[in-house]
Amino acid sequence: MHSKKHFIANWKMNGLIKDLNHISRVSDYLKKIKKNDFNCTFCLPYTLLGLAKSRFDLKKINLGAQNFSVQDINSGPYTGSISINMLKDLKCKYVIIGHSELRAKGETNLIIKTKIKYALEKNLKIILCVGENLMQYKANKSFQIVKNQLKLVLPKNKKDLRNITIAYEPIWSIGTGIIPQNKYLNNFFNKISYYLKKDFKFSISLLYGGSVSSKNIKQFVNINKCNGFLIGGASLKSKNFIDIIKKYYN
Ligand code: 13P
Repeated sequence: MHSKKHFIANWKMNGLIKDLNHISRVSDYLKKIKKNDFNCTFCLPYTLLGLAKSRFDLKKINLGAQNFSVQDINSGPYTGSISINMLKDLKCKYVIIGHSELRAKGETNLIIKTKIKYALEKNLKIILCVGENLMQYKANKSFQIVKNQLKLVLPKNKKDLRNITIAYEPIWSIGTGIIPQNKYLNNFFNKISYYLKKDFKFSISLLYGGSVSSKNIKQFVNINKCNGFLIGGASLKSKNFIDIIKKYYN
């Protein structure tokens, strides 16, 4: 089973150079608590990745990117685009793929599948985001939607699946302060986990994302199959992020 817990920060389009201080503080905290069964990753905007690489002990903090271009794995005449090879160069270990904010801008399952292939080719670990919108949730279609999102993009072999972590992020929970009820989430994670074991013969780490904060983190401790969190707003300030980790364990 997955004993390792993931606390992954997604800074989205936030953060200036001065804000890297928040990562320093998280890094200092992690050095103090000396946890091994633990993955802390900061998925930063491209503009901060290079600086973060030179500034932080990447043994404690992993770097992740939020996106990359599907046009070419290495380089090419694509103005304004960043390739997966460039992320590798910046010592990124993780990359988010399939975030609902990118799906909303036209990222299809086919594009997501290609991105997964590219990331695997370059040995990047993938945080694959899935989730339903409010209408689908209200119509009891959440599991069906997520299952389909997974079915259409996941590779079949174990070697590849080992490098993928799934983040369930209900769209109606992102940035709204509303989180799913425990009973619903427990049941949902059990169903996803069962589906993956049955159809992919593999147990993939499952994360939750959507309005996670130090105020509600305790509610997630009892979600058996939840291996960690993808955190947006509450990851921007070190105090909030550290409080989430502290409260989860105490
Ligand atoms: P919030 O934590 O701000 O709701 O964002 C969640 C998210 O989209 C992380 O990828």
